[in-house]
Amino acid sequence: MYNPTAHLFLRKCLSDILAGANSKNTPPFENRLYSLFNDIFERFEKLYAGREDFEEQLKALLAVMLRNYVARPAALRKSDAQREANPGWFRSEQTTGMMLYADRFNKDLNGLIDKIDYFDELGVNLLHLMPVLESPKEKNDGGYAVSDYRKIDKRFGSNKDFKKVAKTLREKDMLLMIDVVVNHTSDEHEWAAKAQQGDAHYQDYYYTFPDRTVPELFERGLPEVFPETAPGNFTFDEAMQRWVMTVFNHYQWDLNYTNPKVFIEMLDVVLFLANMGVDIFRMDAVAFVWKRMGTASQNLPEAHIIHQLFKLCTQVVAPGVAFLAEAIVAPDEIVKYFGESKVWSNEHDMAYNATLMALLWNSIATHSTKVMQLGLRDLPEKPPGTTWINYIRCHDDIGLGFEDRHISEAGFDPYMHRRFLTRFLTNKFEGTFAKGMPFMYNPKNGDARISGSLASLAGLETALESGNRLAVTRAVDRINMLHSVILSYGGIPMVYYGDELATLNDYGFSDDPTHSDDNRWIHRPVIDWKEAAKRTRKGQPSQAVFTALQRMIAARKASPELADNNNLEIVNLENEHVFAYVRSKDDLLTLAIHNFKDTDQFIHAHATFPGLRLQHDRLFDKISGKKIELEEGRLILKPYQHYWLTNTQ
Ligand code: GLC
Ligand code: GLC
Repeated sequence: MYNPTAHLFLRKCLSDILAGANSKNTPPFENRLYSLFNDIFERFEKLYAGREDFEEQLKALLAVMLRNYVARPAALRKSDAQREANPGWFRSEQTTGMMLYADRFNKDLNGLIDKIDYFDELGVNLLHLMPVLESPKEKNDGGYAVSDYRKIDKRFGSNKDFKKVAKTLREKDMLLMIDVVVNHTSDEHEWAAKAQQGDAHYQDYYYTFPDRTVPELFERGLPEVFPETAPGNFTFDEAMQRWVMTVFNHYQWDLNYTNPKVFIEMLDVVLFLANMGVDIFRMDAVAFVWKRMGTASQNLPEAHIIHQLFKLCTQVVAPGVAFLAEAIVAPDEIVKYFGESKVWSNEHDMAYNATLMALLWNSIATHSTKVMQLGLRDLPEKPPGTTWINYIRCHDDIGLGFEDRHISEAGFDPYMHRRFLTRFLTNKFEGTFAKGMPFMYNPKNGDARISGSLASLAGLETALESGNRLAVTRAVDRINMLHSVILSYGGIPMVYYGDELATLNDYGFSDDPTHSDDNRWIHRPVIDWKEAAKRTRKGQPSQAVFTALQRMIAARKASPELADNNNLEIVNLENEHVFAYVRSKDDLLTLAIHNFKDTDQFIHAHATFPGLRLQHDRLFDKISGKKIELEEGRLILKPYQHYWLTNTQ
């Protein structure tokens, strides 16, 4: 809606700002600003209206946007224009991602460039580099405690090396994603250092308090993220002689977004990095950015407004940049990070499909897809234009973040069921194949999450230890089946580095004093390239997993119906062990079907498939390219077998 106050404000200050910019190339910026300014203004007003300096801050925001627009390199502006014309650019079936730590993958950023052929070999064309910005040597939470947002950490290389990576990927039509840790900084960040020296301006960038009064009130509502290693949500800073809010580790200071300067600074950081050639930002810990006493300070409405502002302002400056929300929260809450518009996304473009991830592990442990089907069917539809990041493992622990009501509906007791899952996945249940470790057991509520690599959780480690060849085959089949789901479900598949080679748990983390108290390092491997070379040797688990993944990525690229256009329909085949869904586009149709049980399953294809618009008498599997024969009208699925069935060869 037209807002005369916003319009007047823009008219009043835009010419001043433009005069200072000294550039003739601003019409695209001005056009986008005119069309989005209402939305920006209203949100800024919602958060900061009462302040005396409201207009001054809004003007400062516009100046930051324009400065970054003027600084945006021509090649990136060109790609902005192309992407504006093709808003589906990141939802394509052509895209498959891999997330990795540049140093643990192959030494550093230059080492990454040396491995471009490897990504090609596999078919991966989107790289998510785990935190690469400067962070302290030890207290860094794997890079999630940033001390300088404008500098690549020297353990990975220099800003120049980073730009070279971005340019190389762009020339190869590959996408580059990096993390921006927007919720907190390291206690060694310049702002924190100034706050420690008593500078009130910078103390106001954080939540700091002279005594425990306010912290105590906050604590009543706040849960603990790292109860074992960082209990409580506040830390007393000796230098500052004040308490500071530290929801994650004690050295990660939470930024105070009730101060508009913080938002403007962080937007400036995002745009600065965008101008270095980043295509997608993984916004870390998005649920946490706004705090309110008396609440858990997660998923608050103001947090959404902050993310909408990041998105809107970036759209004006660099419309070819997309945002991914890392919101590992309740299923209904995750969807809200896409924005609540029914027309198009107005917040994040992507979000981690943590619900699918956790439910897949539930199905692996129980051999049943009942809870998964109930949980996924119940998810609200995401807005057009958005997509999921589908993944099985990442650098973090697995939280069993699905709803109790779906567990009950499937006939289990939620508390006992969750206990069973944790025990099963951490090798404490009689007969389990999974070998994970409990992460952050909280004796106050009995909760624990799970660490472990895909291969070890899927049973490969115990199988190799026992020397049982059938068990090895089963583990490999589980891994391949899980990869099949993330490659065919609607969204961008994100392979976790090392999983393509069936890498087992790395127990070495416990010898490293900077990692030993955080067992997430068990699944953050250093790639051994000699070992990786075995991926071409028949009979090796790494070969079986790598080639299967390679084949599925290629099959995905040849299947336009797998692009995410909210075109996914979960189908109930009346067999709780089987997870199936239809993906269709115009005349193209694929039925992805997966057997989560270690025995053969029979599906009455002649009776059910025609109803799904799939002829049962000419079935082909897109992955293998082979024709599938039925037996007496039934499709047979061997243990963990999966197909992408279609009628066209
Ligand atoms: C995110 C990261 C996690 C980190 C946390 C705090 O959730 O994925 O690794 O510990 O943020 O920054
Ligand atoms: C993030 C995630 C949470 C995870 C934590 C530490 O806060 O939301 O699920 O456990 O980081 O890894």
